[in-house]
Amino acid sequence: MVENNSPAGFLNIPAPQYTDIKKEISNLKKERNAIILAHYYQTGEIQDIADFVGDSLALAQWAAKTTAEVIVLCGVHFMGETAKILCPEKRVFVPDLNAGCSLADSCPADEFEKFIKTHPDRTVISYVNTTAAVKALTDVVVTSTNARQIVESFPLETPIIFGPDKNLGNYINSITGRNMLLWNGACHVHEQFSLEKIIELKKVHPGALLLAHPECKSVILKLADHIGSTASLLKFATHSDNNEFIVATESGILHEMQKKNPGKIFIPAPPNDSTCACNECNFMRLNTIEKLYNCLKYEMPEIFVDEEVRKKAVKPIEKMLEISAKLKL
Ligand code: 13P
Ligand code: SF4
Repeated sequence: MVENNSPAGFLNIPAPQYTDIKKEISNLKKERNAIILAHYYQTGEIQDIADFVGDSLALAQWAAKTTAEVIVLCGVHFMGETAKILCPEKRVFVPDLNAGCSLADSCPADEFEKFIKTHPDRTVISYVNTTAAVKALTDVVVTSTNARQIVESFPLETPIIFGPDKNLGNYINSITGRNMLLWNGACHVHEQFSLEKIIELKKVHPGALLLAHPECKSVILKLADHIGSTASLLKFATHSDNNEFIVATESGILHEMQKKNPGKIFIPAPPNDSTCACNECNFMRLNTIEKLYNCLKYEMPEIFVDEEVRKKAVKPIEKMLEISAKLKL
C-alpha cells in the first residue's frame, strides 16, 4: 500500500549541484534521527555511507533494535517492509519503492494461500524474500543464514511447506534429509549463472574457490566450495587462507569482499548471457545516492503495511529472531 508517496515510486528531483551530497546525507540523518541500513547488493557508494551493511537477517536484527526514529532501508521492498512490520512506530523509507524482488514476485499471496489449503496440517516456512501478505500466512520466516537451523528445529517427521525459493528449498532438503514440499519460485539473478562458464573460469584460475549463494541452481551448488548467505560468503572469504575466489551471487558483494580483503582476488561468476550485467540485481540497483538524499530530505517514499496484515506477519518474523538469538546467529 502506497500512501502520500511519489507516484513514480521515487523522487525524480536532481540533487542540488555544488553540494557535498555525502555531507548533506549525514546532516539530514542527524536532523531526522535516522539510521541508514544497506544490503551488500547496494552500490559501493551507498554501502560506504550506510551506518550498517548486512545480509537480510542482520538488517532485520538492526531494525528491531535501533533507537533511531527513522529507518532508511537501502535494499529492496521486502526488506523495508520487514523493518516496518517489526517497528510500526517508526517511519521506514526505501529510496526507490520500485525496488522489488523477482523471488517475492514469484509467490503471490492468494496462490500461496490456495497451495497451503490444498496441503493442510503442514508447517509453513517462508523465506524472508516474500511480501508481508505471504509472511502473514507463514508459521516461521527464515533467511539464508538461519534456514537450516530453523528447519532442523522441527522434528524430522514434521510435514513442511517451504516457499518461495525452490533452489534454497532443495538445498535445505538435501543437507537435512527432509522432504519439504516446495513452492516453485526462484530469483532471476541467481538462476542465470552459467555452469559451463564457471568451469571454464576454474580452468584459467585453478586455485580459485567457488563461493555460491543457496539461491543458485543445484548444478552450481554441487560445484561450490562454500555455500551461504551474503554475510557467510564474506566471512568465509575473509577467514580463508585462499587468495582467489569466484563469487556466484549478486556482484555488489564484491565491494565489501574487496574492502575487507585488499590482497585477495574476487571474480564475479559469469551469467549465461555475456552481453548483459545479469549478475547485478536490477531491483537493488534502482537505489542511488541521489534518491537516498531525496528520501531523507523530503521524507518519501515511505513504506506502509496494512495493520491487520502486519499483526499476522510480525509473529513468524519474531519467531525467526528469537530462534536466531538463541542460536547466536
Ligand atoms: P542474503 O540474506 O543472503 O543477504 O540474501 C538476500 C537476497 O536477496 C539474495 O538474493
Ligand atoms: Fe530478489 Fe534476486 Fe534481487 Fe535478491 S538478487 S533481491 S532474490 S531479485
